[in-house]
Amino acid sequence: MDADDRERMDGLTVPACERCPELVESRSRIVDGTGPDDADLLFVGEGPGQREDERGEPFVGRSGSVLDDELRSVGLERESVRITNCVRCRPPENRDPTAEELEHCRGYLEVEIERVDPEVIVTLGKVPGEHLLGRSVSVTNESGSVEEVRIGDRPRRVLICLHPAATLYDRSQEETFAEAIETAADLVGGGSSGGQSRLGEY
Ligand code: URA
Repeated sequence: MDADDRERMDGLTVPACERCPELVESRSRIVDGTGPDDADLLFVGEGPGQREDERGEPFVGRSGSVLDDELRSVGLERESVRITNCVRCRPPENRDPTAEELEHCRGYLEVEIERVDPEVIVTLGKVPGEHLLGRSVSVTNESGSVEEVRIGDRPRRVLICLHPAATLYDRSQEETFAEAIETAADLVGGGSSGGQSRLGEY
């Protein structure tokens, strides 16, 4: 993160950016993170897909429905968590963002992490897991594990999680995904084991 990234951001949004020529070409808009600016949980996906690009909000397509359902089932509302992506512009054909694109957007993500200051960062899928942990990650095997890693200027707690879309491709992953989300809720005291957020169920 450098001073330029901070200056370009208006609070938690990036009003304009043309660092990645292919993404500028493929996007309709920049998709910033949503949710409270002081959320305890920050979910980080890979990058916007078609629906997200259309609506200007992360995880509003099928993956978003899977995430919303799982959050609800552990007693968390989508509105109580923050959701963002490694890159803020839709890659063409929904390809993975390149290393260069990830690097171009890294400062914005670091500023967001610094300003939200979440208790736990949940990486959704391989790309954000590897991007934030700085190593190769086998999400299927490591989903649900927590690691401390320096991001920006301080150590952060990162929970590795499958991408919600993995459960759509392979139903046997549902339990693994559900367990990681339950762990996320437990780590911030909002899981199904108790807490105020559960009262709405009754
Ligand atoms: N997949 C992601 O990684 N991010 C989104 O915002 C939507 C789908």
